[in-house]
Amino acid sequence: MKLRTKCVSTTMAIAAMSVFAALLAISSCQSSVESQQNSARPGSPLIVPAGFPTPPIPADNRVTWDKFELGRRLFYEKQFSSTNTLACASCHSLAAGFCDTNRVSTGILGRRGARNSPALANIAYDTAFFWDGRAHTLEEQAIGPILNPLELGQDTTVLVAKLTADPKYPALFAKAFGDERVTMSRIAKAIATFERCFLSGGSAYDRYRSGDSNALTISAKRGFSIFTGSKAHCNSCHSGLNFTDNQYHSTGLFSFYVDGGRANVTHLGSDYGKFLTPSLRNVMMTGPYEHNGRFTLDEVLQHYNMGGKHNSTQDTLIRPLDLSDNDLQDLKAFLFSLTDTAFLRRADFKNPFE
Ligand code: HEC
Ligand code: HEC
Repeated sequence: MKLRTKCVSTTMAIAAMSVFAALLAISSCQSSVESQQNSARPGSPLIVPAGFPTPPIPADNRVTWDKFELGRRLFYEKQFSSTNTLACASCHSLAAGFCDTNRVSTGILGRRGARNSPALANIAYDTAFFWDGRAHTLEEQAIGPILNPLELGQDTTVLVAKLTADPKYPALFAKAFGDERVTMSRIAKAIATFERCFLSGGSAYDRYRSGDSNALTISAKRGFSIFTGSKAHCNSCHSGLNFTDNQYHSTGLFSFYVDGGRANVTHLGSDYGKFLTPSLRNVMMTGPYEHNGRFTLDEVLQHYNMGGKHNSTQDTLIRPLDLSDNDLQDLKAFLFSLTDTAFLRRADFKNPFE
């Protein structure tokens, strides 16, 4: 079925906030429906928040309830790991905005990677995945951790055989894809469909953005002005509805980075120590922070206030900011306003096996 959206454009004047220019014409869309309707269930699991555009959906992987429900099971399925002990959700926990509350994630047999697991809210809008942007579609991305010896460490032939032999999966694949065949491509499509529906736009900040001036505390409003103002310039990089410019920057976490970041992909010295700007949606729940999980939120703010450690690729916007303790508290209050509790508690995102 073709995508249909009903959008009403409302122009909202939010006084004295020039940074909001791009948001002034907010189209308040009713939830768009992307569906092949091969399930009796009405509506769509893809619930687009008011003012958000419909995310791009690949033509060969339309969102349906059946694919979503299969993807949900696979996301929480421990047979995904060679040891049958870990699932995607082990490192991407709903209560933490689909990230891991450990500094770096521990994969099978206690093996540790070097990176912090990113939050997955609103990844439907992204075109580059992982801290260094090495994957480009959610379908492509889903295969990575299965094979990664530090994560799920699973041979794909074994995984396909396990799911084919499982009493519940062949029927679920048939509902989602028309026949019982379990393939890696279908696994990737189902997981990507589930993840694509992780749309978060119901925070206090979103209510404020939609015109409810009482949705933010006075401190959070002050924090918002600091975040967007010329003193801190946070939104030069953490921009747009998703608080990311989708670009790579070195914020000067180190003088010498052990992890080359983007340079691992491009092999350019000028990309050394640069990482993809993370979204700040639900940021209060997604700690510890940075690509290697080295900081608490207070430490992140201190890091920016001090200007970081100089290195040749460090972004020039990262410099001592001279923010007072009150300013930092206000910034934090603003960051807290990005928590979307309805998203973090959405029933059909939860573990279906519990
Ligand atoms: C052992 C922990 C672990 C497991 C298991 C795991 N992940 Fe991840 N995930 C990570 C880490 C760490 C990263 C960041 C890696 C990097 O940047 O190199 C990541 C990155 C991602 C990203 C990219 C997010 C972004 O914004 O760039 C997605 C999507 C994702 N994982 C989905 C999955 C799926 C789907 C599964 C199951 C098939 C899975 N993960 C299993 C730890 C894990
Ligand atoms: C030059 C671009 C840039 C500017 C300016 C900037 N950031 Fe960041 N921010 C990033 C990048 C890139 C990272 C990830 C860096 C890394 O892990 O190496 C990051 C990480 C973060 C994180 C950790 C998020 C997570 O999930 O790990 C927070 C919180 C944050 N920034 C808040 C802010 C605030 C508040 C400001 C303003 C004081 C700010 N940023 C200014 C680019 C920027």
